[in-house]
Amino acid sequence: MKLPVRFQKEALRISGLYLLFAGLWILFSDRLLEWLVPDPDRLALFQTYKGWGFVLVTALLLYLTLRMRLETLESEREARLETAQRLESYLSVSPVVNFVLRVEQDGRVSPVWVSENVHALLGFTAEEALSYDWWLRHVHPEDRQKAIEQSNRVLETGCADLTYRFFHKDGSLLWIRQQLRLIHRSEHSLPEIIGTWSNITERVEDQQRIRRQFEMLSALTDQARALAESLEIQNAAQETVRLACEVLGARLAWLGRAEPDGNITVLTVYPPDHPYPHQIGVRWDDSPYGNGPTGRAIRTKTAQVIPDLLSQPAIPEWRELLIRHELYTNAAFPLTSRGRVFGALTVYSDQTGFFDEERLHTFQTLAYLAAAALENARLFEQTHQRLEQISALREIDQAISNSLDLALTLRVALKQVTTQLKVDAANVLLLDPRTQQLESLASLGFASSLPDRVKLRVGEAPAGHAAKERRPIFIADIQKEIHAFPCADLLQSEGFNRYAAVPLIAKGQVKGVLEVFLRQPRSLDREWFDFFQTLAGQIAIAVDNATLFQELQRSNTDLILAYDETIEGWSRALDLRDRETEGHSRRVTELTLKIARAMGMSEEQLVHVRRGALLHDIGKMGVPDAILLKPGALTDEEWRIMRQHPTLAFQMLLPIQYLRPALDIPYCHHEKWDGTGYPRGLKGEQIPLAARIFAVVDVWDALRSDRPYRPAWSVERTLAFIQEHAGTHFDPRVVEVFLQVIREEQERSSSNG
Ligand code: C2E
Ligand code: SIN
Ligand code: SIN
Ligand code: FE
Ligand code: FE
Repeated sequence: MKLPVRFQKEALRISGLYLLFAGLWILFSDRLLEWLVPDPDRLALFQTYKGWGFVLVTALLLYLTLRMRLETLESEREARLETAQRLESYLSVSPVVNFVLRVEQDGRVSPVWVSENVHALLGFTAEEALSYDWWLRHVHPEDRQKAIEQSNRVLETGCADLTYRFFHKDGSLLWIRQQLRLIHRSEHSLPEIIGTWSNITERVEDQQRIRRQFEMLSALTDQARALAESLEIQNAAQETVRLACEVLGARLAWLGRAEPDGNITVLTVYPPDHPYPHQIGVRWDDSPYGNGPTGRAIRTKTAQVIPDLLSQPAIPEWRELLIRHELYTNAAFPLTSRGRVFGALTVYSDQTGFFDEERLHTFQTLAYLAAAALENARLFEQTHQRLEQISALREIDQAISNSLDLALTLRVALKQVTTQLKVDAANVLLLDPRTQQLESLASLGFASSLPDRVKLRVGEAPAGHAAKERRPIFIADIQKEIHAFPCADLLQSEGFNRYAAVPLIAKGQVKGVLEVFLRQPRSLDREWFDFFQTLAGQIAIAVDNATLFQELQRSNTDLILAYDETIEGWSRALDLRDRETEGHSRRVTELTLKIARAMGMSEEQLVHVRRGALLHDIGKMGVPDAILLKPGALTDEEWRIMRQHPTLAFQMLLPIQYLRPALDIPYCHHEKWDGTGYPRGLKGEQIPLAARIFAVVDVWDALRSDRPYRPAWSVERTLAFIQEHAGTHFDPRVVEVFLQVIREEQERSSSNG
């Protein structure tokens, strides 16, 4: 063992002191004695004991010196010990385990010391942790090779920093961060490695959770395109539950619609043949069946989770089914549109704990997407339905003008009534003004034939009440009020459930009654009743014409007015959805007609121009709100969808015979004179004149209105824009006429004050 330099010096100093003292003694002791003791006899005596004196004095000096030095050393040792103890107790409560490894001559590494807190961190005692191969045996087998390689780097570079999985003594798996540093204490001793272990399991798991959520969300966004673009409710619904299972890992998912009567209709299920949702009969009212997560999600408008279905099934009887289908936890998410809940997405898993915070967020996102897509599809279908309704009206109208035979006309009308209103049977009763009796003239959909001449007095039976009181009658369950009907037997055998009747009123007079019958109890909405009334109005006109003016050439102005009013109604609804300035469609229609007239289009053509202009952006019904109302610029993908709106309009309007001549504007209003427009890139006079005119007017009105993505432009700036683009975007001839019309308008308005 090598003595520290400090101690060597100390030893030298003591020996030096002894040498000095002994030298001085040899040189001067005799002379000093002679000088002190002049008497030779006594001097001889003293000479004898001089050696003893020397030994005595040096021993005393040595004793004093050593004692002093050792005292210093002892106090130093004590101070060091105290520090070491403090360090040790500090290390034992530290969250980080410290250890020391020795590097042998042959490069092998062996542990020499580990802090006591290894027990708190890894469950092993320090002694166990120092045993042979302990570390390697407890590193996760998959991480072993890499952990060894990375640790060995400390020998080359002087430090290493690695993470690996490690088994705690209790068998649980931890994430450990290990940092190593190579230390050379002196040139002569072997190098040592000091190292630390810290438990970073929580941090790693947090990161993994965040990464997993991110992955789920991006998988969802990748796949949700079909959902966002789906224009059919059933498609959108199917896509939603598919994503819930296939992308987000649920075992079962279903979408339910909240019905006004508290019931929930299962719209779609995934996997598609899964029987469970049809077996449970969930509701959303206060009944026990409304107390599951689905009912509560709809009532409270917030997501609901049941972590363990078996201990808290909404209805105890469902327990067995849940076990049979291995459904152990579920969550329900409300589907809302503009603040109104219209249904819920309910998902199940076989892993309890499945609905952690991240998953709930992700499913919530899916529910938002689904709600937007479903609402969009509903609007689109509604538009389709309205278009179908208008062609139904048109067909009845044509039947009226083409036929003088009222019975034939009514058959056509009833066909439309049953298909458009989706009812099982319909009956028209005519009022004989002289006898005040109602008599069935035409009926459709009855399994048994109605008694040839059903005759009711006004005020008798529901139909008679409708005529007498001039108001619609609705009966939710015919069987309960069967006594009110004279032909009770017949209605009973038909199995009818719902009933509705409206009086046929033309020119202020009751002409008869239209009644409809449904076998299945279906909820009938506002829109259904509105259209029921419209059809009745149409039939009333037919009856009126046939009975009173049979021999006269019929003018169908009334009818045309009826459905042109309907078109105007929708056009206002379309503007509302686009958040366009109030009256955009009406304004562009008026201005377009003015220019078209000035450019010599015939009155007959103008009828179609007018309808086309009113419906010009009907195709935007197929563009999701998120794109239509986006406050900023559109991405390429969003543009691709936005630019489909003329084509969508074409597809929607084409099947409607009577709107076909009005297609030019909806289909071609984004074509440009130089051929750079869409959807077909038509050029110059290939673009129908009506569309060329409309393009100028639409841009004029669009630029002067606020849009979600920019504020309105001034008149001057807009006019400059239009002039600048004559010959590229716009037909220069149209721009000329347009400017003239605008100038005249401005003069007129300024002369009017
Ligand atoms: P829209 O708002 O009815 O605009 C009709 C047409 O007016 C546009 O057809 C364009 O030719 C013209 N226009 C409207 N605003 C501007 C403008 O700020 N600058 C210029 N130079 N022209 C304008 P376009 O471009 O084919 O767009 C069709 C529809 O696409 C627009 O109908 C609007 O609904 C939507 N859209 C266009 N740009 C954006 C945008 O940046 N953000 C959003 N969210 N929607 C946009
Ligand atoms: C529900 O969501 O209300 C149904 C709960 C269940 O399936 O147990
Ligand atoms: C009807 O109202 O048309 C059916 C006849 C009846 O009231 O029993
Ligand atoms: Fe448009
Ligand atoms: Fe427009």
